[in-house]
Amino acid sequence: MRHLISPQDLSVKELEDLIVLAKDIIANPENYSEKCKGKKLATLFYEPSTRTRLSFEAAMLNLGGSVLGFSSADSSSAAKGESVADTIRVISAYADICAMRHPKEGAPLVASMHSSIPVINAGDGGHNHPTQTLTDLLTISQLKGRLDHLTIGCCGDLKFGRTVHSLINAMSRYEGVKFVLISPEELKIPTYLRTETLDENGIEYKEVRNLEEVMPELDVLYMTRVQRERFFNEEDYIRLKDSFILDNSKMKLGKPDMLVMHPLPRVNEISTEVDNDPRAVYFKQAEYGVYIRMALILTLLEDAKKSKEA
Ligand code: NCD
Repeated sequence: MRHLISPQDLSVKELEDLIVLAKDIIANPENYSEKCKGKKLATLFYEPSTRTRLSFEAAMLNLGGSVLGFSSADSSSAAKGESVADTIRVISAYADICAMRHPKEGAPLVASMHSSIPVINAGDGGHNHPTQTLTDLLTISQLKGRLDHLTIGCCGDLKFGRTVHSLINAMSRYEGVKFVLISPEELKIPTYLRTETLDENGIEYKEVRNLEEVMPELDVLYMTRVQRERFFNEEDYIRLKDSFILDNSKMKLGKPDMLVMHPLPRVNEISTEVDNDPRAVYFKQAEYGVYIRMALILTLLEDAKKSKEA
């Protein structure tokens, strides 16, 4: 059974296939409107979400399938102490595929070990968020026309921000990709990512404190929210939350064809005045999330069918 727990579960070829499929879905949505007729997607969300859960649900509905699930741990039997392993055993009998978001790193991996349906990690703690990364890759591919030879600036909470971790993991596999990591000292990327992904693969990167000075170099600026819910104390959050605020004066320093991306939700890190700049693509990016999730659901269900037949 094939699952999607980390971006590395997909080869570069498989990523490309998903992007090609998503682009065909964008061009010919009517060809896909009945592809998942009779199939059910379960959304198991133990942590808040707007885009990820609803774009998964929209994706399955667009494919002619149905959805079931819960949107908070409080409204599921997790509140009574049920384990993820037990929950997924039961859900496997109710649905054909599931997307799980959980505050604990590794919970979707544990679920996948006890599941007889494909499990998609929809965000596990401060660890990974592979379907956001698929969304990001489709956005970059659509709007820049390539995924290689790009300088990508990641700015904000690089310590707890799972979207950045998955993006670095995935983009490190393309030729000529360089990273500029912009964060306060306390919110730098985790050591494991630096040693096991960047250093191990000889990827060019630098870690800086100041956004203005690197703006002119960037092809993509990936802004992130300071992840309040992962802080151990509120004082640190308050001290760090407004470390970076992208506004029109900083945008003036960027290339004319730079993309500004953000997984959303935004708090203060991008001033709303930037929304009208044509380089600000975060709302478009959220839209692409539906198409790539359609491509992913189709692909994983197809694989599951093959593995059952084998
Ligand atoms: C992100 C997440 O949940 O990690 N949101 C999302 O899925 N688009 C980013 C965030 O919460 O800051």
